[in-house]
Amino acid sequence: MELSTDYLGLTLSHPIVASASPLTDSEDNIRQMEDAGAAAVVMHSLFEEQIRQETAAVDRLLTAGEDSFGEALSYFPPLTDYRASEDRYLEILAAASATIDIPLIASLNGVTAEGWTGHATAMEQAGASAIELNIYYIAADAAESGQQVESRYLEIIRAVKGAVSIPVAVKVGPFFSAFAHMAQQMVGAGADGLVLFNRFYQPNFDLEQMAVTRTLELSRAEEIRAGLLWISVLYRKLGASIAASTGVEGPAEVIKYLMAGADVVMTTSGLLRHGIGHLGSLREGLRDWMDRHGFDSLEPLRGSMSLSRVADPSAFERANYIRMLEEFEPA
Ligand SMILES: Cc1cc2nc3c(=O)[nH]c(=O)nc-3n(C[C@H](O)[C@H](O)[C@H](O)COP(=O)(O)O)c2cc1C
Repeated sequence: MELSTDYLGLTLSHPIVASASPLTDSEDNIRQMEDAGAAAVVMHSLFEEQIRQETAAVDRLLTAGEDSFGEALSYFPPLTDYRASEDRYLEILAAASATIDIPLIASLNGVTAEGWTGHATAMEQAGASAIELNIYYIAADAAESGQQVESRYLEIIRAVKGAVSIPVAVKVGPFFSAFAHMAQQMVGAGADGLVLFNRFYQPNFDLEQMAVTRTLELSRAEEIRAGLLWISVLYRKLGASIAASTGVEGPAEVIKYLMAGADVVMTTSGLLRHGIGHLGSLREGLRDWMDRHGFDSLEPLRGSMSLSRVADPSAFERANYIRMLEEFEPA
């Protein structure tokens, strides 16, 4: 059975990729992932806040709201947690990429294009096969328009693309007023692929302690739906790779994302729940399902449920929405 696939111009033996997480921050784990059957691994992120020389913009971000409400400060996670220095990051990247045969993708995580994006060059030199750029930005400033937010993304992409010659994937959330257009803009700015989607970690309140709680809950399979929708819409419209990320619990989610049109499918929560060996179960589950349904390669499967043949996806989705409301039967 032929499971090989192209992602960012890299040839992968199959479409299952380990996404960025604490599991991908050691040479040993990365090697174990290759042994377990990952087609590629994305390293955990190097954060802008870790590496920037010029701290003014970050100080502005971190102290916004400080004067208005004391508790607001507890929204901001301590920057020292879950961080490694750039040197340590590059050491792990260099050591791991030298010992594995699968592509190792380095990850940069930031919200401005000021100065730090040049560190992508160091990642390229350390042996990264590609860079994944995670732009995790909460546009909470009412003075900043949607257009300004979009420009911010495009500037970061241009800055990173200008610094490296390896492919660059961009990992974003779905919250844009016109996501299809924004996706095209990001590809126009140089993105070789999009990772859909980033998962936003929303705060909660502890009513007894009257404090903000930041419990990181792992994703559930139901969370694939926003990704399914947008990958179905964007399939064959971008001229760039599409990676699906969020909610891959078992082989069913892998297959659904491929049917929507993903080139590769990424997983983190599944591995944190079931261990690194789960990568092999996902690949074997995909192979088994394809075998039972008469597929001998990914090509006929990929995009088979996409909206590429629907003339007006907006009208189609609106009709689905209305039909869904009409068909609902109260229990
Ligand atoms: C504990 C933890 C740490 C993570 N660290 C990173 C990171 O460093 N960089 C990044 O781009 N994504 C990071 N993510 C997000 C994952 O790569 C992934 O996008 C997200 O968990 C959704 O995928 P999933 O449903 O398979 O978990 C992290 C997720 C978890 C749970």
